[in-house]
Amino acid sequence: MEKSFDVVVIGGGPAGYVAAIRAAQLGFKTACVEEWKTDKGEGVLGGTCLNVGCIPSKALLESSENYERITHKFTEHGISVNGAKIDIAKMQGRKEKIVAQLTGGVAFLFRKNKIEWLKGHGKFVSGGDKYTIEVKEGVNASTVEAKHVIVATGSTARQLPGIEVDNKTICDNVGALAFDAVPAKLGVIGAGVVGLELGSVWRRLGSEVTILEALPAFLGAADDAVAKEAWKRFVTEQKLNIQLGVKIGKVATGKKGVTVEYESADGKQQKVDCDKLVVSVGRVPNTKDLGAEAVGLKIDARGFIEVDAQCRTNLPNVYAAGDVVRGPMLAHKGMDEGVMVAEVIAGQATRMNLDTIPWVIYTSPEIAWVGKTEQQLKKDGVAYRAGQFSFAHNGRALGLGETEGFVKILADTATDRVLGVHIVCSRASELIAEAVMAMEFDASAEDIARICHAHPSLSEVVHEAAMAVDKRALHG
Ligand code: NAI
Repeated sequence: MEKSFDVVVIGGGPAGYVAAIRAAQLGFKTACVEEWKTDKGEGVLGGTCLNVGCIPSKALLESSENYERITHKFTEHGISVNGAKIDIAKMQGRKEKIVAQLTGGVAFLFRKNKIEWLKGHGKFVSGGDKYTIEVKEGVNASTVEAKHVIVATGSTARQLPGIEVDNKTICDNVGALAFDAVPAKLGVIGAGVVGLELGSVWRRLGSEVTILEALPAFLGAADDAVAKEAWKRFVTEQKLNIQLGVKIGKVATGKKGVTVEYESADGKQQKVDCDKLVVSVGRVPNTKDLGAEAVGLKIDARGFIEVDAQCRTNLPNVYAAGDVVRGPMLAHKGMDEGVMVAEVIAGQATRMNLDTIPWVIYTSPEIAWVGKTEQQLKKDGVAYRAGQFSFAHNGRALGLGETEGFVKILADTATDRVLGVHIVCSRASELIAEAVMAMEFDASAEDIARICHAHPSLSEVVHEAAMAVDKRALHG
């Protein structure tokens, strides 16, 4: 007889593996279907985030920043190093070790929580009182029975017509994280999160980077002040060549690399030759070959599974979480949805707030924000006060030699409630947590101003920005 589970999760990325762990904690007999394989052909958990996304990119980010520090920044500390070199194979080996440690950690957590890992591709076969899920690996197919199903199949890089990704010369996130040498010239299509993060990594290691972006505005989703500061740092100072408002034309690969023809914003025909090209133009949800039609699971025109605020689909006892549903394609958003869905199945009162999901772009300096931008508040006709404070005079930032950027807090004029916080800073990813906490507790700017912040620390700039909302910053 086929195996039967209380909960079957399809997909073992951040949304799926977390949903499985929480379901198991709540006492459900749980299985998770995952088909991902390493280059060596071994099954692996963790999805895009752990294998070819957040985690490996942060490993490379640190290596490349260390290289830049030693070659450019340490002299001001009186440290000089002659003949600094980067060993790309070693750098990639370190990255792979970190990935293996974390994916192995998820497998350990599955064993600890008695979650059965079903290796292969999962899809719906039939519905009814219980759902039948097929698990197929190569030619071997089996089925399991599930009372509840959580779909967390994630997303894949969007492709552009006429540009074939081979992950050798023309790459998406997968190939761009695995270069075995620093490309002398790197082309990137799309100045979004991936383009900026990976463009920055390879620039620090010595590549000449050209980023071609279709939209006329830079970082359109960020607060205008953040986008302006980022442009100053990345383009003016760090010499990332970012071209806005372009139309990509023919892309041709040859013996020496790849040539991208494009029309620049002024209507002129241009071309750029590069050794490698990264295509980072967003991601699409993985809903093909899911058997959705077999059970009548509703998928919208863009390929996302339709869900309500608690990630219920149109089918009884079927839920979906992570990149495969509406909302930002961020690992932490998926993880929180995974927890929520398991708790909904257990009948618990649970929630999550899509309005307080933090965004982080791991460039140097980092960019992070939560809540509304100033332009959104203007558009919505909300009366607000803004307080902004720079890192330039902060003692800790000076000690670190990381004085770039600012904290900007937007608060409601009438209630002083914090509506948005925007940070550009070397450690913005860490500082944003205070802002998320404040917004989740409906804090006012005055609340943050009244909280004691350690001295000397970068967090003092959050404190000063909160006081600046009331025009009483102390150190500026
Ligand atoms: P993205 O949506 O951030 O950026 C894609 C960019 O490509 C946009 O600026 C878009 O205007 C541009 N574009 C689209 N079509 C184009 C064309 N034909 N020619 C030129 N430019 C074009 O997507 P990205 O960078 O690929 O990242 C994918 C997802 O992964 C994002 O949704 C993000 O949430 C997630 N991610 C998050 C990270 C983080 O949290 N730090 C890191 C990396 C990825």
